[in-house]
Amino acid sequence: MASSSLSVVLLLCLAGAVSAQLSLTYYDKSCPSALTKIQAGVAAAVSSDRRMAASLLRLHFHDCFVQGCDASVLLNDTGADGVANERNAFGNVGSLLGFDVIDQIKNDVESACKKPYSSNNPVISCADILAVAARDSVVALGGPTWEVKLGRKDSTNASMALANRDLPPPFLDVAGLNASFVGKGFSFTDMVALSGAHTIGKAQCQSFRSRLYNEGNINATFATKLMANCPQSGSGGDTNLAPLDDDTATPPNPDMFDNSYFLNLRAEKGLLHSDQVLFNATVASGATEDIVNNFASNQAAFFNAFASAMVKMANLSPLTGTQGMVRRVCSSRTN
Ligand code: HEM
Ligand SMILES: *[C@@H]1O[C@H](CO)[C@@H](O)[C@H](O)[C@H]1NC(C)=O
Ligand SMILES: *[C@@H]1O[C@H](CO)[C@@H](O)[C@H](O)[C@H]1NC(C)=O
Ligand SMILES: *[C@@H]1O[C@H](CO)[C@@H](O)[C@H](O)[C@H]1NC(C)=O
Ligand SMILES: *[C@@H]1O[C@H](CO)[C@@H](O)[C@H](O)[C@H]1NC(C)=O
Ligand SMILES: *[C@@H]1O[C@H](CO)[C@@H](O)[C@H](O)[C@H]1NC(C)=O
Repeated sequence: MASSSLSVVLLLCLAGAVSAQLSLTYYDKSCPSALTKIQAGVAAAVSSDRRMAASLLRLHFHDCFVQGCDASVLLNDTGADGVANERNAFGNVGSLLGFDVIDQIKNDVESACKKPYSSNNPVISCADILAVAARDSVVALGGPTWEVKLGRKDSTNASMALANRDLPPPFLDVAGLNASFVGKGFSFTDMVALSGAHTIGKAQCQSFRSRLYNEGNINATFATKLMANCPQSGSGGDTNLAPLDDDTATPPNPDMFDNSYFLNLRAEKGLLHSDQVLFNATVASGATEDIVNNFASNQAAFFNAFASAMVKMANLSPLTGTQGMVRRVCSSRTN
């Protein structure tokens, strides 16, 4: 106990130390319009498809949880080291979206930088674009904002094995979710707040089928509605989509970044197993239930906790200084 909390403290100190090498003004000289360009790119993508905000937020999460925020998730070539890319890991394959939007933003930003665009001298790292785009996506759907420090470098490799190890799967219980997030230096409250990202976006039937047909702690009306598009037998409709957040709040506010996710958990309308485990209606008060109750009744508390946890996430072991590279094309390690 003492040694594990000591190591958490050490982890947090380390995270603080590296984030000190990142800065809010990193691109002020080399690319003063970088942030406005990223924001415009996100706004354009979200106005043509609101789900894209969710997809971009998830991309940043899946980047940072696997060897830190280094854009390793974007690589789709196999390096000389033969390392398979993370796009094919369990939590990513057939599920992660937004790669083309990041490519578009990368092109727009590089051409707007002061230096003439040069294929050998790209300015903005893909990892920084992911971090800023995640923030701008949340803001675009009405969520909280936070400051993103910049100066991350992109990795020269990726690891499918680490992605399979470190991305939490939806069948986890509270202990497993806690272990996954504590392992990255997050608190228990951070974990619950970050799960609130599921107030936006969609999941495939295969991600919640087992909950739908095997669990009792699900609202019957809600379940019946979902079953119509997610058959139990075989693998039919595996890729059929359902909103992660039922948005039954009054008045209805579909696709907004708000605290309705937590209201839904209290009503046993969590879509994923890993969502609903955060609230047991029979217990109604406990380690996770108290946090869910707080976020359900106080959206500002959720927004504050979410923003501060996202700042921590964006600072997960970045490559800085001479480490890594700035990629020209975000999906390729060869400039
Ligand atoms: C707590 C552990 C978590 C688990 C087990 C989990 C699991 C999942 C699963 C299974 C999906 C649906 C994938 C599919 O069916 O294709 C999903 C979607 C999503 N997740 Fe999570 N997630 C977790 C935490 C997070 C965090 C921390 C964030 C961001 C801060 C996040 C953001 C999202 C978003 C926005 C979507 C929707 C993406 C879209 O519509 O394209 N999740 N998650
Ligand atoms: C990698 O992704 C880029 C765009 O993100 C795409 O143009 C390219 O065809 C992909 N390459 C492979 C090998 O999938
Ligand atoms: C990826 O690169 C980092 C930094 O250079 C290195 O520590 C790590 O071992 C490499 N991972 C793989 C899978 O090669
Ligand atoms: C989460 O995990 C940490 C580390 O194992 C442990 O100290 C803590 O008690 C756990 N929290 C909860 C609420 O289970
Ligand atoms: C389940 O949800 C429906 C529709 O939102 C609601 O009318 C009903 O009261 C809920 N059932 C329970 C047991 O809470
Ligand atoms: C909720 O808590 C009750 C009382 O402790 C317990 O019997 C039940 O199994 C729990 N339900 C779930 C789904 O964990």
